Amino acid sequence: MPKYKHNIFSKLPNVRTTIFTTMGQLAQKHSAINLSQGFPNFDPDPSLIDLVTQAMKQGYNQYAPMAGVMELREMISEKIEQLYGRHYHPESEITVTIGASQAIFTIITAFIGNGDEVIVIKPAYDCYEPAIEVNGGIPVFVQLNNTDFKIDWEVFRSKITPRTKMVIINTPHNPSGTIFTKEDMLELQRSLENTDIIIISDEVYEHITFDGHGHESASKYDGLASRTFVCGSFGKTFHITGWKMGYCAGPAELMHEFRKTHQFNVFSADHAVQKALATYLKEPQHYLGLNQFYQEKRDLFLDGLSTSRFKIKPSQGTYFQLVDYSDITQETDEVFAERLVTEHRIASIPISGFNTKGIDNHLIRFCFAKTNETLLKATEILRKL
Ligand SMILES: Cc1ncc(COP(=O)(O)O)c(C=O)c1O
Repeated sequence: MPKYKHNIFSKLPNVRTTIFTTMGQLAQKHSAINLSQGFPNFDPDPSLIDLVTQAMKQGYNQYAPMAGVMELREMISEKIEQLYGRHYHPESEITVTIGASQAIFTIITAFIGNGDEVIVIKPAYDCYEPAIEVNGGIPVFVQLNNTDFKIDWEVFRSKITPRTKMVIINTPHNPSGTIFTKEDMLELQRSLENTDIIIISDEVYEHITFDGHGHESASKYDGLASRTFVCGSFGKTFHITGWKMGYCAGPAELMHEFRKTHQFNVFSADHAVQKALATYLKEPQHYLGLNQFYQEKRDLFLDGLSTSRFKIKPSQGTYFQLVDYSDITQETDEVFAERLVTEHRIASIPISGFNTKGIDNHLIRFCFAKTNETLLKATEILRKL
C-alpha cells in the first residue's frame, strides 16, 4: 500500500478495542475456559437450523421486505401481546433488524443530533455510548448503586434537562443481572411525564429471569409504550447470537422515522432466517422454556461456587453472574481478570469498564450460557482461589 498520511479527525477518539475482544483473545492465547463474552457454547435447536435450510431451498435467498418478513412481524406482535398485553401493529410498529445492536444504533442515529443529551444508566452495555457520540449526542450518566444496583430515581430526575432527548434502559440488566421492578417502571413513567423524551428499552434478555421474577417490559405501561422502542434479540433467546437477528417495536409515528434511516443503512435482514423464525415462534415453549433452562445453569454455577471465597448475589436475570472477589485480593478488577486468565485459565469480564469513571468495586462478570461440563470445570478451578 502506498504511504499516505491521513489527517483523521476521529469521531470516536476514546473508543478502543473492547474488553470483550481483549478477554476473548487472552482466553484463546491461554486456552482458557471462556466465560467472558455473552454467547452460548452449545448449539441451537437442530429443528431451527432445518427450518433455515428449508427456507433457503425454497428460494428465500434474496432481499426480504425492508421492515421484515410479514409472518415474522405478525408472530412478534402476537408474542408481545400475549406476554405484555400491548398490541403493536405488524405493518407499522415492528421492524426486524440485524440484532438488537442495529436497532439501537439506528434509533439513536434517527433521533439524536448535535448537543442532544441521552441518559445512560451505568454500568451499561458498551454499544450505547459510541452510537450517541458518533451522532454528536452527549451521554449523561446515572450510576446504579454499588451494592444492589438499584437506581436512585431522584438522581435520575436531576439529570433531565431541556436538552434530554432520550433515555436508555436495559432490563434484565447486563452486566449486573438485576431487573427493573414494577415500581422502577412506574418511577420512570412518572419522571418522563410532560416531556417528549424517547426511550430505548433494551430487553434482549426478556426471556431469562429467575426465581419466579417476571419481566417488566416497557410495553406494559401506557405512559412508557407511547414513547418507547422495545428492542429484542433472537440471538439471545434461541442461542443464535451469530445469526444477528433482532427487532424493535414502537409507536407508528416513531417507527416511521426509524425506517427512514433503517432503509438506507441495512435495508433488510436475512430472509431465510426470518422465514424460519416465523415458523419457530409458533411454538411458545421455544421461548417460554428459557427461564427454566438458564435457571438450572445459574443454579449449577452458584452451587459450584458456594464454598468459594467469592461473595455472590444470585443473578435475577440475563445469563450473567457478578461475583465480588474482594475476600481473595484487593487487585483492580482488570488486573484480577487478567491474572484469572493467565494463571488459572478462566476468562471473565471486569466491571469497571462499564461504570462511570471506571469505578472499581472488585466485581467481575461470568457468563453461564455454557454447557454444564464447562460450568463444572470452571467452578472446580474457581473454588480453589
Ligand atoms: C444488553 C445487551 N443489549 C444488546 C445486545 C446485542 O444484541 P444482538 O446480538 O441481538 O445485537 C447485547 C449482547 O450482548 C446485550 O447484552
